[in-house]
Amino acid sequence: MTPDTLLHEDSGDSRPLWLIAESELPAWLAQQPPAVTAWLRANGFQGERHRVLVLPGADGTVAGAVAGLGSLRKADELKLWHVAGLPDRLPAGTYKLALPLAASAATQFVLGWLVGTYRISRYRSAPQQNRTFLVAPSAADLAYAEGAAAATALARDLINMPPNDMGPAELAQAAVELAERFRARCTIVSGEALQSQYPLIHAVGAGSPRAPRLIDLRWGDPQARKITLVGKGVCFDSGGLDIKPSAAMLLMKKDMGGAACALGLAHLLMSVSAPVQLRVLIPAVENSVDGLAYRPGDILRSRKGLTVEITNTDAEGRLVLADALTEADAERPDLLINLATLTGAARTALGAELPAVYSPDEALLNALRAAGDEEADPIWPMPLWAGYEDELSSKIADIVNASASPFAGSIVAALFLKRFVTATPAWLHLDIYGWNAKERPGRPVGGEAQALRALYRLIRARCG
Ligand code: BES
Ligand code: MN
Ligand code: ZN
Repeated sequence: MTPDTLLHEDSGDSRPLWLIAESELPAWLAQQPPAVTAWLRANGFQGERHRVLVLPGADGTVAGAVAGLGSLRKADELKLWHVAGLPDRLPAGTYKLALPLAASAATQFVLGWLVGTYRISRYRSAPQQNRTFLVAPSAADLAYAEGAAAATALARDLINMPPNDMGPAELAQAAVELAERFRARCTIVSGEALQSQYPLIHAVGAGSPRAPRLIDLRWGDPQARKITLVGKGVCFDSGGLDIKPSAAMLLMKKDMGGAACALGLAHLLMSVSAPVQLRVLIPAVENSVDGLAYRPGDILRSRKGLTVEITNTDAEGRLVLADALTEADAERPDLLINLATLTGAARTALGAELPAVYSPDEALLNALRAAGDEEADPIWPMPLWAGYEDELSSKIADIVNASASPFAGSIVAALFLKRFVTATPAWLHLDIYGWNAKERPGRPVGGEAQALRALYRLIRARCG
């Protein structure tokens, strides 16, 4: 479903929809006819968050609906998640806001509505059709709302695709299609070129018959500020020879969540013609078990020249990212952003809903956190604490890929990546989960485009 088909022109037959915070309810009720007041009272409607109440028409039809916004001070403070459950909860039909919203709330409303219509329908024999439509409020920034919703759907789709249909080749194909749509250039490095230029990407992917590759997409104005996105594209992470137990492997199709969010963000930036010079680098691999797979004990020479002793083949993400970051860093972009489902330890620390972010630039960290709060796309800063650098020391090579200690796994992984970013001060590393672990309105269990809107806001604030 493309977002455009969900937004209807105002043809006059739309139903009014009131969005009401708990604190606004008394004043609103005072202006309604007695029948409406009685109906809300009879149903115990208090304006609770995510509560929807249909208003009955005299002839048994649906006259309209009220939707609760919970403890917000006023409707103008709403964010997308306040309303993302509406398309699922309202009866079929076309709806129009009964009261105007300020521009930013109107944009969040449209975005939430569009994101809330997302379905994973590809693998159902009888897909459901969307039956709720919106007359978009005129104050909304539709280019952003539609772009962000499409970007979210793209990232979710890529993550939700089963691993048999989303290998390195299919991920590269998705990037090529995105590039074609926005007239970007996309090159793929594979085979012997990959082996000689990106040895870590090659080594991690060597155990899979689905060959590894580096996706390299470029778009935009060469005079503008340069933003480079690097996304972990491990299409399935079995752990390799250090194989994961089955419970830990079950969700590992989402190990390309960083790549999915990077492509989603690229989609959004290109769809609104953001004034930036964009590059997206995605190492796309499958981490498999095979006679050709890389081994614990192997020593690999990275693109940067640092040698890495493999102490755990399940710490593969940092390896493929290291070579991609080396290439990104060599161009000294104005902003280098790395997104990855990098460690289980980040989830232990912050849970599924709060991506960890690392940066040597404290102001940049704070700016991203603030942008995340504005976009209801929260992020939490973590330290690149130098005291743990020794966890990466090797007895035989320059560094190990996984520390022997069970502690601070997300920080140690970030410190590993930092060894490969030596020229670019404005570097952000996001250790994301990329998945909704629990069902929430507008957020089904499955892939999620974490940090996408926060990063977009940061980029627009920094680069225009
Ligand atoms: N893809 C995993 C990290 C992961 C696991 C993300 C679960 C989200 C949920 C990564 O490749 C990995 O296996 N990391 C290991 C590193 C360890 C071997 C040093 C981890 O976090 O356990
Ligand atoms: Mn792994
Ligand atoms: Zn992984």
